[in-house]
Amino acid sequence: MVSNVKTHRIAVIAGDGIGQEVIPAGIAVLEAAAARGGFRFEWQHFPWGSQHYLDRGRMMPEDALDSLRPFDAIFFGAVGDPRIQDNVTLNGLLLPIRRGFDQYACVRPAILYPGVRSPLAGRKGGDIDFVVIRENTEGEYSQVGGLAHRDGPHEVAIQSAVFTRHGTERVIRFAFDLARRRARKRLVTSVTKSNAQGFSMAFWDRVFADVARDYPDIRTESLLVDAACMDLVRRPVDFDVMVASNLFGDILTDLSAAITGSLGLAPSANLNPARTFPSLFEPVHGSAPDIVGKGIANPLATMLAGAMMLDFLGDESAATAIDQAVRAVVADGNAVTPDLGGTGTTRSVTDAVAARL
Ligand SMILES: NC(=O)c1ccc[n+]([C@@H]2O[C@H](COP(=O)([O-])OP(=O)(O)OC[C@H]3O[C@@H](n4cnc5c(N)ncnc54)[C@H](O)[C@@H]3O)[C@@H](O)[C@H]2O)c1
Repeated sequence: MVSNVKTHRIAVIAGDGIGQEVIPAGIAVLEAAAARGGFRFEWQHFPWGSQHYLDRGRMMPEDALDSLRPFDAIFFGAVGDPRIQDNVTLNGLLLPIRRGFDQYACVRPAILYPGVRSPLAGRKGGDIDFVVIRENTEGEYSQVGGLAHRDGPHEVAIQSAVFTRHGTERVIRFAFDLARRRARKRLVTSVTKSNAQGFSMAFWDRVFADVARDYPDIRTESLLVDAACMDLVRRPVDFDVMVASNLFGDILTDLSAAITGSLGLAPSANLNPARTFPSLFEPVHGSAPDIVGKGIANPLATMLAGAMMLDFLGDESAATAIDQAVRAVVADGNAVTPDLGGTGTTRSVTDAVAARL
């Protein structure tokens, strides 16, 4: 019998280290949300990552993107292994997916939840609530460059950043649209370094000004990345939507995860807003080799990434239910894992969130 129940077909890449621990936790909670929300999941697991590289010399098969293309979304854990150089693992798995599927908007919310202690003095739950939009397909991570005179005394390394009007404009436009949808402070902050990088970043500033003219209802602000880092520490409550290049967005989002309490709480969506290819949802954190196998990896970032996935797939109320269940568990300070000051385990936190659904 053919079932009429709405089904989300999800490709799962748990990857390395604690990716193998937090992804099953995320799936358990998404399954609980589906049971309550009247839809279902079909999961297909792809055993790609560093072990695949050690066994076969590649992080994923050559036709990996063909295998992923038919899915509605990709649920991703982490990549990184102390035995392999990080640029090999990252460039062999995550970056080709982000670029190949044109996931140009990397969306990283930064929320200080009630019950979580920020390392910033005087900031309490609810004070910090902004989103960083990171350009995800070009800029400083374009892999354009090369080495000359390799290993000799005159070795030269050249790495070019690539900024196109198409790529810059669409991610800035995405940020403005999001500021409208959020309807909070109605502010977009652009982060560059145009005082020092007079070509690429001054170009970004010009495109930002061009796009801003189409959004007269949204306020704008432009910060140099060094000032933005200071301001994220000094006045994080003032931000709403920030937009930055690939490199600056990467750095800003680790800082924003830190000021909101823990990397273990920070989710991320790599969106193809045109929906021509599947989007990818993952925690911001990496494979955390220092805690792997201890059963204490915080699974909440992965669950929140799962909620972002549901939201993108059109099951907004199930996404909100997961978000609220996570908030409830976080507010109960004891239930959480040690990175948030609790005594919980990956398993007990998963059970607690699922029980609240
Ligand atoms: N998107 C990704 O897959 C991604 C992102 C960042 C780093 N990495 C890779 O991960 C590896 C380790 O990198 P790193 O140590 O700089 O970053 P990391 O995010 O793995 O860990 C940083 C610190 O935060 C802690 N931490 C991270 N996630 C946690 C969680 N869910 N619960 C509790 N504590 C958590 C870790 O124990 C560690 O002390 C490297 O190989 C790196 O390249 C991958």
